[in-house]
Amino acid sequence: MKKIIMDCDPGHDDALAMMLALASPEIDLLAVTSSAGNQTPEKTLNNAMRLLTLMHHQEIPVAGGNRTPLMQPLETAGNVHGKSGLDGADLPDPDFAVQDMTAIELIAKTLRESDDPVTLVVTGPMTNIALFLRVYPELKGKIDRIVFMGGAMGLGNWTPSVEFNIYVDPEAAKIVLNAGIPLTMAPLNVTHKAQILKPEIAAIGEINNPVANAFQGLLNFFEVYHENPKWGFKGAPLHDPCTIAWLLHPEMFESELMNVDVETQGELVRGETVCDYYELTGKPKNTDVLLDIDRPAFIQLIMDSLKTFK
Ligand code: BDR
Ligand code: CA
Repeated sequence: MKKIIMDCDPGHDDALAMMLALASPEIDLLAVTSSAGNQTPEKTLNNAMRLLTLMHHQEIPVAGGNRTPLMQPLETAGNVHGKSGLDGADLPDPDFAVQDMTAIELIAKTLRESDDPVTLVVTGPMTNIALFLRVYPELKGKIDRIVFMGGAMGLGNWTPSVEFNIYVDPEAAKIVLNAGIPLTMAPLNVTHKAQILKPEIAAIGEINNPVANAFQGLLNFFEVYHENPKWGFKGAPLHDPCTIAWLLHPEMFESELMNVDVETQGELVRGETVCDYYELTGKPKNTDVLLDIDRPAFIQLIMDSLKTFK
């Protein structure tokens, strides 16, 4: 059983990542912390709690994270995720209380209380994780690995070469990538292959339980943004669930170990993840970069997971 903490900014695809984690008997989701990203910190916190209420996991402790990135104002992605951050479904209001502590305090408490090392799954900007590492360096050894969605080896989705999660807080990402903790990165190179097609979204409707129905509404909304032909998609890319899918089924993915760092100074490329595929720098290979996915198996995992809910 893998113990994880999720730090997320729900977000349609964050919601799917959480769903995969909750559905699996192989994963013990110890805590959820919210980051500012897809929407304001108030909305992403509320969304995390609405999702746990929908999926009947109110026992999982939740705490809200930092209000802004480390060095710059927050930029949100309402154009992708809507006004609420989770437009497209009527989700229940949270029916449990948020923890009376900050995200980094909850991460610290959870790590201290765990006998086993814990994996951090990060599906939003890395502000909370960078702050955590600065404030609680003594707890670094309790982190088994950080699995994150972010970055790109090449084309970006927010600027020509920069992916949204890293764009929002490049300094935080730089701190996390250089922390000396084993890293698994799901960049756009793999998440753009992890697409769900329109007929597959329609098939979710046949599952017909409240959780699957809510996710069908969410995916119908999320898919519309990606219909613009400029992207060249055949469906909607499911970025964040690649993290949990990799934890559960690493054999679904192809990856390469390499050094990855973050550009924080560049005029045109601030926030770019610089991936040393050809080992040109001689720097330590700090990151397992996911590059390909068995898409049908991934979609099957999503379908099977949705079927486990009441
Ligand atoms: C990432 O940005 C967010 O909009 C998604 O939730 C995902 O984490 C993709 O670039
Ligand atoms: Ca996200």
